[in-house]
Amino acid sequence: MSQSNVPQELKQFFPKEVQESLIRLRRHLHQNPELSFKEERTSQKLYEELAQLNPVELVRVAGTGVVARIKGRNPGGPTVAVRGDIDALPIQEATGLEFASQNDGVMHACGHDVHATWTVGAAHLLAKDPAAGDVLIILQPAEEIAKGAKAILDTGILDKVSAIFGAHVDRRFEVGQVVADEGAVAAAADMFEIELVGKGAHGARPQEGNDPVVGMAALISTLQTIVSRRLDPGKAGVITVGTVRAGSAPNIIPETAMLMGTIRSFDPETRNLLHSEVKNIANSIAETFRLKCNIKSEYGTPPINNPAEPISWARQAVSALLGKEALVPLDMLNMGGEDFACYMKKIPGCFIRIGAREPGGEIIPAHSSKFHAAEESIFVGAAVLAETARVASTALSRT
Ligand code: NI
Repeated sequence: MSQSNVPQELKQFFPKEVQESLIRLRRHLHQNPELSFKEERTSQKLYEELAQLNPVELVRVAGTGVVARIKGRNPGGPTVAVRGDIDALPIQEATGLEFASQNDGVMHACGHDVHATWTVGAAHLLAKDPAAGDVLIILQPAEEIAKGAKAILDTGILDKVSAIFGAHVDRRFEVGQVVADEGAVAAAADMFEIELVGKGAHGARPQEGNDPVVGMAALISTLQTIVSRRLDPGKAGVITVGTVRAGSAPNIIPETAMLMGTIRSFDPETRNLLHSEVKNIANSIAETFRLKCNIKSEYGTPPINNPAEPISWARQAVSALLGKEALVPLDMLNMGGEDFACYMKKIPGCFIRIGAREPGGEIIPAHSSKFHAAEESIFVGAAVLAETARVASTALSRT
């Protein structure tokens, strides 16, 4: 096992056999990654792990989701929830880990193997030392396509939940550091798709056609002026074109060209502005180049703004377990999206980041083929989430 900053006092909450079983579980999940809503073996494995804890209730929900109810000390106490996401990404792994993915082209490149494992770890801790009220352990599918949280909410299983907590691994921070900031911690993540329809022609005689490729080139550049020329410099926004498709041969002007992109923002005004400017520019460029334009855009997950009270519960938990100095600021605007935001629209809660870099290790971005979370972050995530649930449950019992 690697060196770590996890203090012995924290590790002692986990009997040796639990430590070993969590590490085995994480490695198993990492080695057998499955894509969003296809997490069948993952779900089965997690179901079996939770069944060993004799939860009062263990159900499969939303296809590949699993929910366990860990009994609290007081019947009738408030119910809180801890959520871990379980899906992987369509990436070919290049970590060289001994437990690297055996599923070609699929990889746990966002650390959801560790999230699933620390959520099971939190269940262990809460079964041994329960919160005031019951805790729902939510193993959620399909975070990467931003559909899993909604699917879980739609089942109604969270209808009586008073607070919900979740966390993400982050290799910008060492194991033992935790980010539990109040305010904006994840952006709204939306998508758009624009099809430009022109008139095909021979590449040698452009005057006989309407070239959608030239229109697309102008469109891509002009879209970048929205953030630089339309948006208040004091506001955060990103427009990225990530996919372009057109043509089949060097000497043919194609009929159509299409592009897809993502829009990121924090506040609703910025979000609406970016969407409407994308449409304006696409329509006017299409007109200029004598093209037709079909625009699809979709509002995806909302931003996450951690409210004061739930984040104070998480900070209290981190301070108690790891000391105040373990709390570090994010120190950047995270334009990434996270579908945990869907829960927070309905249920109070907060979302934190757990350091996942080995001491002296490299900073590797999530969604890269080399990404892996330091193993010991499992224990920090499990202990912090379990303790946050206890603190929240006690606080909510008083109200
Ligand atoms: Ni993720």
